[in-house]
Amino acid sequence: MRDTDVIAVAHIERASYPFPWSEGIFRDCLCAGYYCCVAEIDQLPVGYGILTLGAGEAHVLNVCVLSEYRCRGLGRRLLSVLFNEARVTGATDLYLEVRPSNFSALRLYEAMGLSQVGLRRGYYQVAGGREDAIVMRLGLKDL
Ligand SMILES: CC(C)(COP(=O)(O)OP(=O)(O)OC[C@H]1O[C@@H](n2cnc3c(N)ncnc32)[C@H](O)[C@@H]1OP(=O)(O)O)[C@@H](O)C(=O)NCCC(=O)NCCS
Repeated sequence: MRDTDVIAVAHIERASYPFPWSEGIFRDCLCAGYYCCVAEIDQLPVGYGILTLGAGEAHVLNVCVLSEYRCRGLGRRLLSVLFNEARVTGATDLYLEVRPSNFSALRLYEAMGLSQVGLRRGYYQVAGGREDAIVMRLGLKDL
């Protein structure tokens, strides 16, 4: 992901989440040196993934595909790139959070070998309240 991708990435974000990250958050991720990648079709971003690394652990902060391009394997490919980056930089464990109501993401994560290790109560904002987050883990040594 380059600075010049951020406007398109934030557009995908707004189209995908009820409480989207701002452009500024994506710029902060780039400035902070987080691993940020995009999936491109015809040189236009159609998906992205963001990973933080530290103390032997990796954390997927975001993975998203523009709705018209879903169910074609792009989410799986983006996650594979993030897993590989985590592994080659020496992380042994990878974590992420997901809403219990997000069936497509849950299916994707389970299909890629992640399993639930915890629950964060009221982690996500939803219209009129909060929603829990399922915490999932993948052991990268097993890959
Ligand atoms: C979650 C998301 C990134 C998946 O991206 P995608 O490109 O559609 O995923 P893929 O095509 O690579 O699917 C890979 C696997 O995920 C599962 N999956 C993906 N979408 C699914 C759906 N709608 N229903 C059921 N399973 C689904 C399947 O196991 C699929 O494997 P298969 O194709 O062999 O059946 C996409 O739905 C998205 O951007 N959602 C909005 C943002 C979001 O919720 N991100 C996750 C935040 S935790």
